[in-house]
Amino acid sequence: MTTTKIQNILACKGKRPVSELTAYDYPTARLLDEAGVDILLVGDSLGMMMLGFPDTTSVTLEHMVHHTAAVARAHPRALLVADMPIHTYDTPEQALATARALTAAGAEAVKLEGGVDKAEHIRTIVQAGIPLQAHIGLLPQHIKEDGGYRMRGKTAAEAAALLADLQAVAAAGAFSVVIECTHSAVAAQLTQASPILTIGIGAGHGTCDGEVQVYHDLVGGFPWFVPRFATPGASIAESISQAARNWVSSLRLPE
Ligand code: KIV
Repeated sequence: MTTTKIQNILACKGKRPVSELTAYDYPTARLLDEAGVDILLVGDSLGMMMLGFPDTTSVTLEHMVHHTAAVARAHPRALLVADMPIHTYDTPEQALATARALTAAGAEAVKLEGGVDKAEHIRTIVQAGIPLQAHIGLLPQHIKEDGGYRMRGKTAAEAAALLADLQAVAAAGAFSVVIECTHSAVAAQLTQASPILTIGIGAGHGTCDGEVQVYHDLVGGFPWFVPRFATPGASIAESISQAARNWVSSLRLPE
């Protein structure tokens, strides 16, 4: 079943863009799945979007298991990928244990951040039969030590390092790789050179085999921070506020 889903998604490469959106709960998973999204990502961005943390570095495996199980209860037709949170894959052995915990919660594939430095971890997980999506470029779990939310791939040395990362994760068996916040020309070059499916975010439109967005950025659900590259297709935060204001007013009895 999972193998078929992944084969169908991989068959899109070069034919049509693959769509990936984050989902952290049951109703959102159902809605996005019914809308035809290819991949549902239980991203560790849930740390900010659902739990009120300033970044992803406070997210635990327990959080991820809880939200992955909620999304899995929607029995999505889409492929369900779950993020491995920071410090739950420091060694290949720990990485495999974490991947197993997430698949036990209903994930069909897992995602981790890193390139050359995580090749052995990826190989261990994939050889155990768990499909893996890699994540290179800007790595949100390393934002503190990596110098903030800046574009990657601006220099020739950075672009070469990104290519080495991509080749390493592909050789280790990842079926796909998220490329985050890289110069668009670099994302396009990486995609051209890539034997696996590339999924871009903040890496230019049409530069990768597909794109991923944080659900709240797509629907205008988190007005306190909207990334520069987000293209909201709705404004649910305003709709929620308006509905609440209307309801509060409706409770008042006429004087
Ligand atoms: O956690 C997340 O939402 C992600 C996307 C930004 C790709 O990793």
